[in-house]
Amino acid sequence: MARKLIVANWKMNPDTPREARELCAATKRTAAKVGRGGAQVVVCPPAIFLADLATNPGRLAFGAQDVAALPVATGAFTGSLSATMLRHVGAEYVIAGHSERRAMGDTDEVVNKKIKIALRQNLKVILCVGETTRDHHGHYLATLKNQLLHSLAKIDKKSFSKIIIAYEPVWAIGVNAKESDTPADFLHNAIFIKKVVASIAGATAAKNLSILYGGSVTEKNAASFLTEGGADGLLVGRASLDPVKFKQIINLAS
Ligand code: PGA
Repeated sequence: MARKLIVANWKMNPDTPREARELCAATKRTAAKVGRGGAQVVVCPPAIFLADLATNPGRLAFGAQDVAALPVATGAFTGSLSATMLRHVGAEYVIAGHSERRAMGDTDEVVNKKIKIALRQNLKVILCVGETTRDHHGHYLATLKNQLLHSLAKIDKKSFSKIIIAYEPVWAIGVNAKESDTPADFLHNAIFIKKVVASIAGATAAKNLSILYGGSVTEKNAASFLTEGGADGLLVGRASLDPVKFKQIINLAS
């Protein structure tokens, strides 16, 4: 069985380099303990901490939380970080299309550009998709389909081996979320995602696709998403900032 992928999305946390080092060190110890046979842990810190933390990765892999939608490595783009820069400081993964970036203006077209640029730099992409509200008639599936079709437009089939999908229902993310999704609904939605990917890139790409669950993952619900829900891994926000909780999640996934 493939290793589960446990991704820590630190978002805009913590506020000092020292805290970032401490949090990373704790996660690194856990990853070292579970070893090669355990879950693959990917830490996505704020880009400003990435270079420092990734110099001594241990068994961790690192990812960036975002990348500029610019097809160049350098240039006059104040405030932007290129895929090349991120790769050179140790990122192996990049998150694209997180709902919090979408809320700040990233459209599917922008996400599509970011994915293509990241792939060109040999970064693995964690593409986030998810509906804002869930209805009982399944209309939300059209939202998922749209996000997938447009975000993955004109990407060659071979590149799909470097793409991971994180299904993150927006209503289940963050401090204001009342609940997480259920493992059964995740499983249903993951199958739907595979069907859409099969229509874009073929059955093999869909079969080999890893799909993560994200949205209020805790040490209490992690196991059920991985077993009952059949998730290939988890994208963890808040709980990844708590070394004790995150350790439990990594252990459960190992
Ligand atoms: P959360 O965030 O685990 O804090 O809900 C998940 C995410 O947004 O990736």
